[in-house]
Amino acid sequence: MQAKRLTPAIGALISGINLCEPLTPAQCSELLALLVENHVLFFENQPLTPRQHRDLAANFGSLHVHPVYPHDPEVEEIIVLDTNVKNPPDSDTWHTDVPFIECPPMGSLLSARVIPPSGGDTLWSSCIAAYDALDDEYKSLIENLTAEHDLAAAFTDSRYGESAEAREQLATARKNNPPMVHPVVRTHPVSGKRGIYVNQSFTTRIIELAPDKSTEVLQFLTSHVARPEFVVQWKWKPYDLAFWDNRLTQHFANADYLPHRRVMHRATILGDKPFR
Ligand code: SIN
Repeated sequence: MQAKRLTPAIGALISGINLCEPLTPAQCSELLALLVENHVLFFENQPLTPRQHRDLAANFGSLHVHPVYPHDPEVEEIIVLDTNVKNPPDSDTWHTDVPFIECPPMGSLLSARVIPPSGGDTLWSSCIAAYDALDDEYKSLIENLTAEHDLAAAFTDSRYGESAEAREQLATARKNNPPMVHPVVRTHPVSGKRGIYVNQSFTTRIIELAPDKSTEVLQFLTSHVARPEFVVQWKWKPYDLAFWDNRLTQHFANADYLPHRRVMHRATILGDKPFR
């Protein structure tokens, strides 16, 4: 395997591995080490079937079944993000996947299936680089804070509750996933590095702050994370695959390609409870 770093803060292009074949334990360990070092890994020309995609992701942990997004008809662990004029894209706010559960995902594997003629890039940001760039005073202000993450903030009735059946599914998802509190600054369980763990899509408030101050700090941190110096942008080709460390990165999918269609498949690997 060869790794080519893409920006100073985040991202590497990996070559010399065929992810459609079963991986050896040594290859899994090497990939995990590359993931921790680079935060997001990109692979080209990996035409995985949904089952191969699921099996690849399962090398790294148990898989999450999403309570709202549709999944492949035969493989429930593979989310199908098919966005088009009738189902417009809505992943164009910075977020980490599934922060509203006690042990949020350690990583996600996103496979490009149908790519528009132009646009539809995804951007990832390093929350470690963003945290490192804060001054000491701001770091100590947020050091011991905790924040609430809510599925309902991103999966709204207006977007996901079109039919009675969809509204019932959404109500069940909310009941099974009440708002969850995590530290505002979390420590990566492998590297020991610290990073910002609040995001624009799901984080609703900082528990210890008055509402105005909570809004101010969240607005600052969520726009700070998106600064270009912490970001890598990937221009997709069919069968590219991205594997990101979901613990201390955020991503944003550009919604600039309608009326064209874009189809992505995602497997989501469960992780540990965030800690300070
Ligand atoms: C996601 O937010 O997990 C999907 C990102 C994308 O579609 O590029």
